[in-house]
Amino acid sequence: MSVDVLLGLQWGDEGKGKIVDFLAPRYQVVARFQGGPNAGHTLEFEGIKHVLHQIPSGIFRTDTRNIIGNGVVLDPVIFKKEVDSLSKYNLNMRQNLCISKKAQLILPSHRLLDAASEQSKGESKIGSTLKGIGPTYQDKVARQGLRVGDVLAPNFREKYRSLVQKHEATLAYYGYTGYDLPAAEKDFFEAIDFLKEFQLVDSEYLINQSIAAHETILAEGAQGSLLDIDFGSYPFVTSSNTMTAGACTGLGVAPRQIGEVYGIFKAYCTRVGGGPFPTELLDAEGEKLRRVGHEFGSTTGRPRRCGWLDLPALKYAIMINGATQLIMMKADVLNSFPTIKVCTHYRLPDGELTEQLPFDLLTTEVTPVYREFEGWNTDVAYATSFEQLPGPLLAYIDFLEAQLNLPITMLSTGPDRIATLQRESLAK
Ligand code: GDP
Ligand code: IMO
Ligand code: MG
Repeated sequence: MSVDVLLGLQWGDEGKGKIVDFLAPRYQVVARFQGGPNAGHTLEFEGIKHVLHQIPSGIFRTDTRNIIGNGVVLDPVIFKKEVDSLSKYNLNMRQNLCISKKAQLILPSHRLLDAASEQSKGESKIGSTLKGIGPTYQDKVARQGLRVGDVLAPNFREKYRSLVQKHEATLAYYGYTGYDLPAAEKDFFEAIDFLKEFQLVDSEYLINQSIAAHETILAEGAQGSLLDIDFGSYPFVTSSNTMTAGACTGLGVAPRQIGEVYGIFKAYCTRVGGGPFPTELLDAEGEKLRRVGHEFGSTTGRPRRCGWLDLPALKYAIMINGATQLIMMKADVLNSFPTIKVCTHYRLPDGELTEQLPFDLLTTEVTPVYREFEGWNTDVAYATSFEQLPGPLLAYIDFLEAQLNLPITMLSTGPDRIATLQRESLAK
């Protein structure tokens, strides 16, 4: 059996959590492969809304095992809070959740470094979630990070201290003062003790044993393809590979073991934080998308920037991920728009039309070229199959499938688990 991957094709918040939770009953294993608590994955069912940051979105399906892979950065304090907040649901997480010993630990000082770095950038700040993601991956690449498995070593505190001394020197370089590290460290070490109650494993063995045993495995992406460290709108990106290839390195899975790649996108676009966004709407229509779509960050509560669907960007994301099928989310948010626009090309400063993303969207100003579609002016909540959808929405879907050269096999019409339509016949 192979490993299927589900990941975002835009700038994050596409609705990955909802769909992973929806698909999880078909999978024996759900595994996160990168990112950390910068992710906010929302699941809604039985009238309750859950936002997961560290824990994979298969956790509510108690027959599914969940894995936090080596590519993830783990904040033990946030992890503990999340586990505590879910304790009333009896999810048996000490049994159903495994954490890679090779996942990197986010220390309190990583969060400080994130804040100091952002502060130093002034106007050109990335708009990071301030969860310490960048500094933790920096330490990983610098070969000086602390890993989950290190917490079991007798000299963990010494290793911790030696890394924090380096962080303090960097904080001093930034002139960043006024923080209370000892208070944060108290919570941190309590959370480290808590972490030791969980199964800390060599998850690459676990996953490859599952593959060998023909189990079904779903890799859950975080962030989105346009936030990828290599292919996103650099430097306004996160610090990990959010693309399919990241599932290989973030879980220890060989490329040939990758099966389906579900590419998930909203029927429009959003972005939270800084960076280029060609189809951004800074007008009443953008405001309406934000209001109707409740576009406020699941992790930081910040208003998300909104705009029309961007096909050049979507095609790029499909290309680098090798998506095999598409899932379109939040179609209901467009219910009351009389006209829906889709960007089909960019016009370059010299007037030339292109479907290709320029090297740097910041320095190459592109003007989106739009195609307009008639809105459907209907609440689509009644639909339980694609066939029941209004004509203009079906025409929108047909157009996108033809442009993107892939089937849209699922459509989401509301935040709840049950507001999900499927076209199994088109799925491979
Ligand atoms: P993720 O990070 O990709 O898991 O996405 P988020 O949870 O950050 O953001 C998606 C938001 O849209 C959440 O508030 C979801 O509850 C909500 N959502 C998901 N699918 C739909 C949908 O089809 N319609 C509407 N209206 N909301 C949706
Ligand atoms: P999910 O998994 C949307 C954005 C931040 C910022 C940039 C870098 O919920 O889709 P970081 O804290 O990673 O250093 O921030 O990336 N960002 C996200 N935007 N959804 C996310 O995750 C994000 N995770 C990071 O806003 O612009
Ligand atoms: Mg999110």
